[in-house]
Amino acid sequence: MASLRAKIRHVIGDQRIIRVQRFVAPAARRNLSLLARVYDTDKQRGHGYTTLYERHLAAFRDRPVNLLEIGIGGYDSVTWGGSSLRTWRDYFQFGEIHGLDIAEKRIDEPRIHVHRGDQSDQVYLRELGRRHGPFDVVIDDGSHVNAHIRTSFEALFVDHVRPSGFYVIEDMSTAYLDEYGGGPPGHPGTSMRLVQDLCDDVNRRHWAGPAGRAARPVRAVHVYEKIAFVQRGDVEVCAVPAIQ
Ligand SMILES: C[S@@+](CC[C@H](N)C(=O)[O-])C[C@H]1O[C@@H](n2cnc3c(N)ncnc32)[C@H](O)[C@@H]1O
Repeated sequence: MASLRAKIRHVIGDQRIIRVQRFVAPAARRNLSLLARVYDTDKQRGHGYTTLYERHLAAFRDRPVNLLEIGIGGYDSVTWGGSSLRTWRDYFQFGEIHGLDIAEKRIDEPRIHVHRGDQSDQVYLRELGRRHGPFDVVIDDGSHVNAHIRTSFEALFVDHVRPSGFYVIEDMSTAYLDEYGGGPPGHPGTSMRLVQDLCDDVNRRHWAGPAGRAARPVRAVHVYEKIAFVQRGDVEVCAVPAIQ
């Protein structure tokens, strides 16, 4: 299937395909799953994530959302990729959509901003957050390497996601794959272990243990097959001292 897609792209040309997608997309704008199909992102086709995105992000639809997605797609191709960025751009009609990829990408379209960098580089991510954040939504669909997922989350979640905003981690099945730094259930350093710790952060302020174990401001953690939605809470709310 992948090679058939590559052949079609080769014959028709990337820019022509993108023009056709943009022509068809307005008719699909109200339905995220349909929009994802038009732009050919695997968020619907391969994974069925779009109904979950609608569940959690529909409330942001008509707001001036600032969204960052790690992983633009197309890998080494300069002219291919951006399917999900276009999907978000059309879904959030007032949104500004930022995409980060380790590979060079040439996308010159309204309300889409492309950044080149490595998601495992905390210094780079913090600077990106300072310049272009705070974000209402951050989506990690990049390397899927467990250490990278954790590094990106630590760099962005507390300081660069707005209260009530969402940090989404896709393709978490790599938590169980050796080649991505994963392992059996409970393996340290994985994305799943991060998410399990974040569940503690939701309620940690009720623990009367030693000071200095500050909780991250997490309002809620929603875990589904392969994908998690972490909602940020208010720092002030999370800083309420534990009941003694
Ligand atoms: C699965 S694709 C993204 C697909 C896209 N989000 C979509 O839904 O259409 C993953 C992308 O992550 C990029 N990537 C891989 N390692 C990365 C890293 N360390 N930092 C940033 N991007 C990375 C790859 O170049 C690739 O384009």
